[in-house]
Amino acid sequence: MRVGFIGTGEIAAAMVEGLSGRGHDLIVSERNAEVAAELAGKFKDVQVKSNADVVAGSDVVFLCLMAGVARGVLGALPWRGNQAVISVMVDVPLGELATLCAPVSDIALTIPLSSVATGRSVLPCHPDSDALRALFGESDTIITVPTEAGLNAHFAASALSAPLLTLMQTGAQWLGEQTGDPKGAETYVAGVFAGFLRQMSTQGADFEQLLNALATEGGLNATLKQRMAEAGAPDALQSGLEGLKVRLKL
Ligand SMILES: NC(=O)c1ccc[n+]([C@@H]2O[C@H](COP(=O)([O-])OP(=O)(O)OC[C@H]3O[C@@H](n4cnc5c(N)ncnc54)[C@H](OP(=O)(O)O)[C@@H]3O)[C@@H](O)[C@H]2O)c1
Repeated sequence: MRVGFIGTGEIAAAMVEGLSGRGHDLIVSERNAEVAAELAGKFKDVQVKSNADVVAGSDVVFLCLMAGVARGVLGALPWRGNQAVISVMVDVPLGELATLCAPVSDIALTIPLSSVATGRSVLPCHPDSDALRALFGESDTIITVPTEAGLNAHFAASALSAPLLTLMQTGAQWLGEQTGDPKGAETYVAGVFAGFLRQMSTQGADFEQLLNALATEGGLNATLKQRMAEAGAPDALQSGLEGLKVRLKL
């Protein structure tokens, strides 16, 4: 398949890495020039072209721009009715994309994260997309979300990533200060959570059951959890998610 990327930044680079070496022709746009040159230098199946040539030469085009840039750029590109467009952009609804990319009608939204580079990531998608399934269906898990609002709620949930990683980083830094081995502390904390995630990926993500197993009265987990609750951490998370609803039109 000929797969184009408009906007060659963080998330486009991760998707290109994930797709490279799988028999596709990958075409990235010229900006960011440094990232585009790095990808073309690293992967034999990547070419760098202008935005117009990316669209003209692709069967599937991923839109990886910031929303404001997309509104200024996409309408002038040579879209064809027989190609598929997959947007990873927050804040640009399907209806607006249909106008910006007319006459394309095969348009879907998805939410890749950096783990798409190594596979086994989760890609929520609305509506279902044959193109996304053809490209990532074997390497990653595609979850079709029935409504656009539901997909936007997944955008909010994807923002759990930075707060949860920050908590892990704080814990690892604290451990490193106690042991004098910051690298070892990172490896330990990452390993603890990698273990939970492996367990959840084989047995299902039953958070209640996992938490019950850690709820020994007076135990270290229960004590720290209680302290965090008293400090308002779960409420802050809930209210942060609620605060994203207006922007995401939920
Ligand atoms: N990062 C994530 O984990 C993630 C996850 C899910 C969804 N997204 C979505 O993905 C989109 C991009 O995010 P990102 O993190 O990849 O941002 P980013 O790294 O800033 O990438 C945006 C890219 O667009 C390029 N660009 C700017 N003007 C352009 C133009 N006229 N034509 C072509 N390219 C142009 C930028 O190049 P210059 O540097 O030269 O300006 C940059 O390479 C956003 O809408 C975001 O909501 C991101």
